[in-house]
Amino acid sequence: VHEEARMSANEGHRRLWNDPEWVKRWLEVEASAAPVTGPLLEAAGIQAGERVLDIGCGGGLTTIAAARAAGAGGSATGVDLSQPLLELARARAAEEGLPNVSFVAADGQSEPFPGGPFEVAISRFGVMFFNDPVAAFGNILAHLEPGGRLAFACWQGAVQNPWFAQPILERYRPAAPAAGGGPPPGPLAFGNRAYVEAILGEAGFDATAWHEHAYTWRDRPGSIADPRAIAGMGLEDEQAAKAIAELRELEARFTVGGEVVTDRRYVIVTARR
Ligand SMILES: C[S@@+](CC[C@H](N)C(=O)[O-])C[C@H]1O[C@@H](n2cnc3c(N)ncnc32)[C@H](O)[C@@H]1O
Repeated sequence: VHEEARMSANEGHRRLWNDPEWVKRWLEVEASAAPVTGPLLEAAGIQAGERVLDIGCGGGLTTIAAARAAGAGGSATGVDLSQPLLELARARAAEEGLPNVSFVAADGQSEPFPGGPFEVAISRFGVMFFNDPVAAFGNILAHLEPGGRLAFACWQGAVQNPWFAQPILERYRPAAPAAGGGPPPGPLAFGNRAYVEAILGEAGFDATAWHEHAYTWRDRPGSIADPRAIAGMGLEDEQAAKAIAELRELEARFTVGGEVVTDRRYVIVTARR
């Protein structure tokens, strides 16, 4: 029974992040998260010799950056439930000849990760997809040294990020709320400061701090109105056509001189075990 419960946790997201169409789309979107890496690493304050855990590491770019910061005497371990993204992450680390980085296929919410205990846990947009966030952060905390640091980036809310397609997509396929009645897991699930602080507190973290950041991103036409955004949602043709029409309208609001220009508002949350 325990095994079944573990396997079913986050099953929807496991399927989504292993869907080849979705993964192709994420790899295009990945570049748009580049401006977040610097502020995230600065907030994490990684010292030479430290062991770093990267949760929801995706293609591993932040894991690789963390491994460099930790130096030869330290290490970085990336955890993700997407096999194709982990393969890419491993290939990238091998190409750079980095010996102190490793990648583990696991559900960050419920499964143990080797390579710890860690002095630091980081994540760039990889912690908003848990269906039981308190359990997930409890699992992360259990892998940290006493006094260990947590630093992650998450998006501010839908109001601060009106360019996000998520609220449109959720009308076509409503998702179940997170355990405890929180917003459904997804990129905008952590936009509310009081909610995030409550989750971290319940999971046992202290000294939570919230630092707001923003940047402007210029992208190609079709980057918001991308049919792959609805791939795997299982919509009937008519519904799919309506959804794409709505995404086109959304994109038109941000189209300036042939580019899609969006102001992106995110938060770096830090805490301590
Ligand atoms: C928006 S992507 C960010 C990827 C990466 N951190 C980056 O910045 O390039 C979110 C990542 O979280 C991963 N993810 C979602 N739910 C997860 C879970 N329960 N455990 C581990 N990883 C998860 C996805 O597979 C995906 O790679």
